[in-house]
Amino acid sequence: MLGWEQLEALCGRCSRCRLRAGRNKMVFGRGSRTADLMLIGEGPGRDEDATGIPFVGKAGQLLDRILEAAGIEANDVYIGNIVKCRPPGNRIPAPDEASACLPYLRNQVYLVKPKIIVCLGATAAKYIIGEDIRITRDRGKWHERKGYWLMATYHPAALLRDQEKKRPAWEDFKNISAKLAELKVAEGE
Ligand code: URA
Repeated sequence: MLGWEQLEALCGRCSRCRLRAGRNKMVFGRGSRTADLMLIGEGPGRDEDATGIPFVGKAGQLLDRILEAAGIEANDVYIGNIVKCRPPGNRIPAPDEASACLPYLRNQVYLVKPKIIVCLGATAAKYIIGEDIRITRDRGKWHERKGYWLMATYHPAALLRDQEKKRPAWEDFKNISAKLAELKVAEGE
């Protein structure tokens, strides 16, 4: 596994998949590199591609408001994506694009060592938790794997499209906040 500097530089010059050709900026990650909570989205949109920072557009702003309302401190969160380059027209990343990029995300998980990993939406859930995950059926469930607590919830962009998803997503974030507090107590932090 690489350290932060080497990893970020490697991602910046990566051309392992076709997404390299259409992107402006590689979107590496944002937040605390020692966070207890890691959030994983799908891939950069227009605003992220322009700035090089994940979740800065409308969905990201909603995400930040939800985190704050749930009492999750910004310095306890690291945010990344399944792919680091914007898929054209915001399409879902293709499986080979996700496979090409996932080793970088795994390296980030290794470096951050979060206690909890939350998958935002079906794409992240599929690649991080498993193929069989159905977001509507399985959101909010905890999975314990290799020392990490994993959960999938709705992508914030889905909450912007469908008001009915807001309440269940809010319940998920309250549970995530409670789990975070519980794990900190268990570790004596
Ligand atoms: N949607 C995502 O999945 N990731 C981002 O960074 C922005 C929007």
